Amino acid sequence: MRALFKDIKGLVGCYENSPNFVAGENMKNFPVLKNAWMEVVGEKIIGFGSMSTCPKVPSGKAQIISCTNRYIIPSWCDSHSHLVYANDRAGEFLDRLRGLSYEEIAAKGGGILNSARALQKLPEDDLFDCSLDRLLEIVKLGVGALEIKSGYGLTLKAERKMLRVIKRLKQVSPIPIRATFLGCHAVPAEFNNSSDYTDHVISDMLPQFVSEGLVDYVDAFCETGYFSKEDVTRLIDAASKLKIKCKVHVNQFNILGGVKLCVNRGALSVDHLEIIDDADIAALKESLTSGSPTFPVALPLCSHFLSLPYTPGRKLVDAGLPLALATDQNPGTSPSGDMTEVVRLGSLKMGLEPIEAIAAATLNGAAAMELEDKVGSITPGKLANFFVTREMSGLEEIPYRFNDVVVDKVYVNGELWVG
Ligand code: NIG
Ligand code: FE
Repeated sequence: MRALFKDIKGLVGCYENSPNFVAGENMKNFPVLKNAWMEVVGEKIIGFGSMSTCPKVPSGKAQIISCTNRYIIPSWCDSHSHLVYANDRAGEFLDRLRGLSYEEIAAKGGGILNSARALQKLPEDDLFDCSLDRLLEIVKLGVGALEIKSGYGLTLKAERKMLRVIKRLKQVSPIPIRATFLGCHAVPAEFNNSSDYTDHVISDMLPQFVSEGLVDYVDAFCETGYFSKEDVTRLIDAASKLKIKCKVHVNQFNILGGVKLCVNRGALSVDHLEIIDDADIAALKESLTSGSPTFPVALPLCSHFLSLPYTPGRKLVDAGLPLALATDQNPGTSPSGDMTEVVRLGSLKMGLEPIEAIAAATLNGAAAMELEDKVGSITPGKLANFFVTREMSGLEEIPYRFNDVVVDKVYVNGELWVG
């Protein structure tokens, strides 16, 4: 397709040469070019500018698309999801409404163990089919790149099944996908403790899965009742010997020293951070000096759904950090893959200006899965993955009119996907 988008009210995140990410006060300067044009040829963006420089494309040579009163935003880059799973956990939700906490539900065999039982039983093809449906749903919502974790298998066979499903999704997906082996997610009942299960993950699963080309990153749930800092250290070190970086669940309920550990070991991201102290923030700042920081990733749908505190996004950005926002889509703590809702909560609950939340959900999300060369901004040479909004007076309408649909037309690889 060749297409010229004209009279765009605001072209968001447009750079001739995109930085890899934006941090701190630069997030407020995520560019918005007013009254703009953008041209797409094939699957790539090839140029943009203000309307005074709009190219004259001979009629019949390209589709001309008027975007009066509409913004164009780079597709959402969701850097943290558990999109491959077998069953919903709506029954547990009822338990919660009746007074049980996430920890109490887990202690009676619910939670991750419940998801693992269902996943172990489900044939690979069925798991693939329901996961593909979920993937196509979120592409319709404007997601243009995605990370997916394993972690509901909890046996070698079932973890491999999950990772194989992610690999198959990569092969058919219209959008780029990264695969994360969430080896240490919960301790299965057959194991005495987290340390023994970590041994099994490190010795028996990780090397095989890496050699089968199933793993882009590793992950662990560093949390009381799940995996200790020592377990996580061993997993990260084993992965690092195989040249695999980590993205780690830390500070969801308790601070166990995971942030500092991950920063020291060059983690790509630390995710959750519903609670975070000044020492953690200092460690994350320190990682910025290397040029390839550990990205703090906030998951506001999880806070919303579990009534947890929100990650202090405002504080992290004010500290100069490159905050990213993601969905955490999963059946237990965030049964939604809606990045627009994530961006809304970024403003409504975390104090981010809309443009900061958008930068966190696009370019920084892309960088938190090392896809910033392909997606995350409107830049010549990047994939034409973006969406056209409904008519809006300003980007602040995204959180302000909090029930209105934002995404009108979705383009993936230069083609109209929905709208
Ligand atoms: O990111 N916290 C750990 N893992 C998931 C939830 C897993 C579940 O409850 O199914 C999360 O919130
Ligand atoms: Fe998660």
